[in-house]
Parts: sequence; structure tokens; C-alpha cells
Amino acid sequence: AASSDVKWLGTPISELKRMPECGAPLPRLKDVPGQHTVMIRTDLLQKGKVPVPHPTMFRDTWDDVHVKMPCSSSNLFPVQDEETRELKNKSRWELIKETLNTQFTNPLELKNAVLKYSASHAKKWDFTALHLYCTKVLEPDAAEHLFDSLLPDMVQLALRASELCTKPIPLLKEGTNHSITMSQEQVACLLANAFFCTFPRRNSRRTEYCNYPDINFFRLFEGSSSRKIEKLKTLLWYFQSVTEQKPTGLVTFTRKGLDKPLNWKSSQTRLSKLHITCEGTIEDDGHGMLQVDFANQFVGGGVTSSGLVQEEIRFLINPELIVSRLFTEALDHNECLIITGTQQYSKYTGYAQTYKWSGKHQDVTPSDGWQRRCTEIVAIDALQFRSHLEQFHPNRINRELNKAYCGFARPEEQSENLAAVATGNWGCGVFGGDTRLKALLQMLAAAEAGRDVAYFTFGDSQLMTDVHDMHSFLTKRNISVGEVYDLLGQYYSSECKSCLGRRPDVSLYSFIYQQVSSSLAPEDSDRGSARQ
Ligand code: AR6
Repeated sequence: AASSDVKWLGTPISELKRMPECGAPLPRLKDVPGQHTVMIRTDLLQKGKVPVPHPTMFRDTWDDVHVKMPCSSSNLFPVQDEETRELKNKSRWELIKETLNTQFTNPLELKNAVLKYSASHAKKWDFTALHLYCTKVLEPDAAEHLFDSLLPDMVQLALRASELCTKPIPLLKEGTNHSITMSQEQVACLLANAFFCTFPRRNSRRTEYCNYPDINFFRLFEGSSSRKIEKLKTLLWYFQSVTEQKPTGLVTFTRKGLDKPLNWKSSQTRLSKLHITCEGTIEDDGHGMLQVDFANQFVGGGVTSSGLVQEEIRFLINPELIVSRLFTEALDHNECLIITGTQQYSKYTGYAQTYKWSGKHQDVTPSDGWQRRCTEIVAIDALQFRSHLEQFHPNRINRELNKAYCGFARPEEQSENLAAVATGNWGCGVFGGDTRLKALLQMLAAAEAGRDVAYFTFGDSQLMTDVHDMHSFLTKRNISVGEVYDLLGQYYSSECKSCLGRRPDVSLYSFIYQQVSSSLAPEDSDRGSARQ
């Protein structure tokens, strides 16, 4: 067993590939109808310059395949005529502009403003967290700054929607492969609108957006938990940063599906390299790698409400990720969302209940030829398991393998140009998965995708040792992805099927050691004594 001063095992992390060093040159950035929507003038793109929106004038659409924008002329609001008592449709955007353009001086006025242009059910919205933040957390002069300076700046940013987001934003619907590239400034404008809850038809689950994540921030303001306060601090810091200094980069959102599941059983691929450590995090130590977001099928999970684990924290410190909720329909089993170019604005300490915003982060990640920060994050949602046994079922194993493979594989790229995957206990916190199984599945998927793995066990040194031992055992014996897959199937049929809900007597790793060792020559069977 590793002594407690061993902090990492396997391949040194310096030997794993990162972007931008490993990447192939990018093709020219261009809008390709039906494949890639680019919301800026690519011919004017210049390092350090704020990108120019494209087209020049707002193109107003109101249909089932694009985001319904708050500034659309079809965004209407019924108002009762004072004389005739008849209901008349008025422009909701005019009302929003009027309402937000008046200076508010306290959280109650902000609340009343938001409620003025929100439908009647919004009257139930609770603004306790916002109120506490303004009155109990901020010092009086900081509260003054919020109302005199930051909120007015955010309003101005939100109200520039028709000037900044001129091109209709396609919905990334289930089953489609499509990319959207927009500027960080456009993202900021959309997020300012989300903060003021201006997106139409997004406040109730009973709309055409029922299969989309929430985008309007109203649930961020509710309740009195200190976690909400910390979320507010993190997000308001983002708005302060982008209103003080316009960011100049681009961000790409790509929805991708696997057209056909892989034939895992027949794979001859050998495992790739593994660096495993019980220290560090995906976001800090995985820079330039493909960083895994332990996602919900509704990307961002509870970021705008109460969730505060890996995915939500990542969306808070890199808030540009949140805008994906505006247009990304729930992920299906064989789909992922890849987000390239987001900036980290905040640092944090703690986790879940103990999460705390800990100030500004200076993001020094280099940019690529499309002016995107070389931060590639892939949202893959694991299955949530209620019973331990369930996850060993071949159907579930296939699903998780294909999900991870969809996230990791880039069939259009050469393996030598692919950065390592930076991951960890995917699906093993809130979603209840088994870390040893999931680590193995992710290693298989990464190998098949032609990538090495940097695995962060988040403090678990036993897990570090166990996964490393398994990886070296399989590698030394030259066991293929297909053979490991087959062993997983054998484990299910011989150890799991018959145990009627109890935990299996033999652990997966012990089983693999036993099976492989007993099928080899005696001198090779050094792992014959099964370890639990
Ligand atoms: N770097 C590396 N490992 C981490 C990090 C990090 N920054 N943060 C956490 N871990 P969890 P899930 C480890 O529960 O089970 C969200 O609400 C840590 O060991 O976030 O896939 C989503 O929206 C932690 O226990 O992922 C989904 O609804 C483990 O990763 C749901 O949670 C799992 O983190 C997904 O749950």
C-alpha cells in the first residue's frame, strides 16, 4: 500500500498532452448553415479587440428552432386598457426597458421591477437571499456601489441585447449536432438578461421549453441559506468584471451525439496512460486538458437554484457556461455538450455546504486561433443509481461507456493532437455511482478515444492506489478494452445477478484480478490472492 506521502501515481502529469501545445491548427472560423452558427464578424476578429456582432441589425425571429429573445417584437404582454378594460398586447421589451431603466435603491425595488414585467405566477418568487445579501452581508458602502454602479451597468448590458445578439440563436435540440460561437460580450449580455429574468416563456415548466434547463435567475434569489449568498457573490463578481472591462474572446458551444454505439466487446485497443492523484482539481491541474463536467442531463444542474457540487461550482467560477442553459435541450443517453473558451473569473474554497467565494481569479489560459481560451469542458451526465447493483448491469455499463466515449472522442482529429482527459469521480457523488467501476469505464472510453487520462480522486488516496494498481495490472498483461469489457459482463453474470439486491461478495477489482490471473501461466498470477 502507498504511504501517505504518495500524492500521485502512474505517468507524471508533465507527460500528458495539453492544449494549445498538442493541437492541430484550426481551420478558418466560419459560419456553416445547419452546422455552426457564428454570431460575430469573423473577418474583423482580432486579438485583444471586442468582436463585432453579426449581422449589423437585429434579426427578429420567434419560432420553435431559435431562442425566443426578450427584445423580440413578438414578446408581448397583456395590459388592461384603463377605460375599456379590454386586454391589449403591449411590447414586453418596452416595459422591461422602462422598468429597468429607473434607478432602484434597494432589493425591494429591484424585486418589484422584475415582477412588473413577469407573469402573474412570478408573484410567488421569493427574494430573501438577495435581500439578506444586500442588507446583512454587504457593508453599507458596498451595497451603495451595487445599486449606484453595478446594477445600472448590468441593466445597460442587458438592454443592449438587440444590438449585441443580432443573429437568431439556434436551439441545440436533442439529436442534433450543431455548434454556436459567440463573443464573451454576447454571453455577458445574455447572462445579464438571465439575471433580470427577462427571457420569455422560461419561467414555467409548462411551456415549449419544458425539456430545457432554467435560465432566468429567479431561484438564485430565494431562500436564506448561506450557500445562496456565496453564489450571489460569485456571480456578481463576474458581472462586475465584465462590466468594468469588456472581455474580448469567443466561446463555442457544441452539441454532439454518437450516431452508433460502439462495439466494445470487439475492441483490441490497449489502455492509454494514466496519471492519478489524490490532490488537486480538474480545473486547477487539468488546464489545457479536456475537462469533464459531472453534469446533469439539464446542463448546469442546480446552478441557478440550490445545487452546489462539481458542476454547479464550475458553472459559477466560469459563468459563461451558464448561457448553455439558454439553448441546450436535455442531453440524451448518447449525447454531450462541449464548451470551449470560457474564462474563470472566481476562486473558491470548500465544497457543497462549505463552498465560499474567495475572490478574483486571473485567468492566464492562452487563447487559440479563434480567440477562445484553451479551456475545453465537456458536459457528460452519468446515470443516477438508487441501488449499488444496478450499475453493473450490461445495459447501464454500455450507456456509461458510450456517454463517456461521446464526450472524449473526436473522430475528425488525430490521436496525437488530442489532449488528455482530466476527470475524477464522475457520477459518484450525488449520483451514487461506484468510483472503482466508473474509473475503469472512463479509462476504457478514453483509450478508445485515443486520449490519456489525468484522474483526480479528490482526496481519496486509497482510490488512487487501487485504480493505479488495476491500471498497471491490465497494462502489464496487455489486456485490451474488449477483454476488460468482457470481464465486466462476467462479473455481472457470476457475481451480481444472483445476489438479489445485496452487495456482491466479491468486489469488481478482486474479480478481475482473479479471472485474469487464473487464465494466465502460474508465474504470472502474482495477483492470485484476491484483494478486496
Ligand atoms: N475536481 C475533481 N473532482 C471533484 C471536483 C473537482 N473540482 N469536485 C468534486 N469532485 P458530483 P455526480 C469529486 O456529486 O455524482 C450536480 O448537481 C468528488 O469526489 O458533483 O456526477 C449535477 O448537476 C465528488 O464527490 O457528481 C448533477 O445533477 C465527485 O467528484 C449531479 O450533481 C462527484 O461529484 C451529478 O452528480
